[in-house]
Amino acid sequence: MTVIGQIIGGEYGELYVRQKARKTIEIGELLSVGGDVILQVHDLGYDSLMEDDDLARISGMQLEGYDDTAIMEEEIRNYICARAKLLVHVKDGTAKIPKKLPPFFDQVRRVSEENFEFLDEPENGLYLGKIRSGSRVLDVPVYIDGKKALSHHILIPATTGRGKSNLVKVMLWNLIPKDYCGMLIIDPHDEYYGRNELGAKDHPEAPNKVEYYSPNPPPGGYSLKVNTNLLRPWDLRGIIDLTSAQTDAMYVYYGIYGEEWLGSIMVSDPEEAKIHGVQESTLDVLRRKLSLAIDINEVNGRVYCDSTIFTTEGNENMMNQIVESIEEGKKVILDTSSMPQDKELLIAGMITSRVFNRYKHYKEKGELDGKPTVSVVIEEAPRVLGERAGRNVFHTIAREGRKFRVGLIAITQLSSMIPRELLANMNTKIILGNEMRSEREAIIGSVAQDLSKDSKNIASLDKGEAIVSSIFTKFAVPIKIDLFDDIVERKERKNLKFF
Ligand SMILES: Nc1ncnc2c1ncn2[C@@H]1O[C@H](COP(=O)(O)OP(=O)(O)OP(=O)(O)O)[C@@H](O)[C@H]1O
Ligand SMILES: [Mg+2]
Repeated sequence: MTVIGQIIGGEYGELYVRQKARKTIEIGELLSVGGDVILQVHDLGYDSLMEDDDLARISGMQLEGYDDTAIMEEEIRNYICARAKLLVHVKDGTAKIPKKLPPFFDQVRRVSEENFEFLDEPENGLYLGKIRSGSRVLDVPVYIDGKKALSHHILIPATTGRGKSNLVKVMLWNLIPKDYCGMLIIDPHDEYYGRNELGAKDHPEAPNKVEYYSPNPPPGGYSLKVNTNLLRPWDLRGIIDLTSAQTDAMYVYYGIYGEEWLGSIMVSDPEEAKIHGVQESTLDVLRRKLSLAIDINEVNGRVYCDSTIFTTEGNENMMNQIVESIEEGKKVILDTSSMPQDKELLIAGMITSRVFNRYKHYKEKGELDGKPTVSVVIEEAPRVLGERAGRNVFHTIAREGRKFRVGLIAITQLSSMIPRELLANMNTKIILGNEMRSEREAIIGSVAQDLSKDSKNIASLDKGEAIVSSIFTKFAVPIKIDLFDDIVERKERKNLKFF
């Protein structure tokens, strides 16, 4: 590769690279020095050897049409200076964190595929995209250890339209044939299965590996309808806003009536409530809240459910079937697009806590090793992880799920709404473009590598361009994610060749 600049100063976190005339260096670009060090540009600026006054004077003369105002040796006097940081040092074929500066005045070149020969595919490699240098994409695939990364949570932060959903589609597609991971995908936009467009259903292994649940399922899908007898008081925790008196009342009825607790509350009268130590007003409000959340009602002492989502009869086995499929490494997609948010989160929480409890049980019995990792995909994660959300199962998983190999893939436009402790627990972050500074700062403050200089870099990321910062990568890897439709079409073309 040709020389495009030269190191002319700086310090460990910020090297100054003079750009060669008529060459361009981009923000985010990777530069190779001495063949073993890679730099990454995080800022660009103009520099000049001339005094400011002289520059202003010559510019004035040029603008006002004076003759003969060319600057002598302009290429030498005026130049662009890139600010770059040391990204990685390659030693004996492996990536190391750089500990020393490259020689002063060394020339820098663009990186090429050969600079990344040290990257290899880890065990259970999950493909994320290709190495990206600025906006140039290199033919170097980037993998992460899927089993580890998924159980240690993945955060996908970006403003709207930068490619979060596309990334999840790509990850899901690559994970469909992999038995090491079961997934629960809560899909409020009904975009992952691909009912009307390309999606998980188009994967050749989808018939055996993907299950789709929807209130109105297409052929091959399952009905997403929850039997209210399966509901337990703790399923409502952190999902529906209840006072402690209302929560206590639920537990009292659960203690007396067991799985009939919900119906019993709905038909209970003030006398009975009083005997159980529950105030009439508490019972009234609780009933109203439950009625709104679960579409359950009582008329003349009879409980009925007028809902497309909940039922008092049948479908008892759905929860078990989902949990078992996930344990077999299948990918289960829940179409929650027609549900109000509280119902979506209630159902998602019910299923998630059943999976989580099973895994806790396996751990106690020493049976966890034989089980696939579980990954739960949740959109607009602050709804369940934010400061204002209660202590629900997603919260618990974010804090301690990795001990039980249950992890989240949390998608969000607003990382700043997620408490720092939880953000820091998300050990892999796939950062897409974000023009909001406060959001970038929240992300930068919680990543595995030092990205303190990368704010502009993140702001300048285009659709599908990302930075992967993970405790499972040696450095924050800039990538370009493939467009999902291209992957599917490539696969289809490949298949056609064989038939
Ligand atoms: N990797 C990519 N390469 C090229 N284009 C992409 C890529 N990812 C996304 N896009 C384009 O950007 C559009 C928006 O992507 P996507 O729906 O994934 O964004 P999002 O971050 O999920 O947005 P929202 O916040 O609205 O859910 C896509 O329709 C696609 O055209
Ligand atoms: Mg999206």
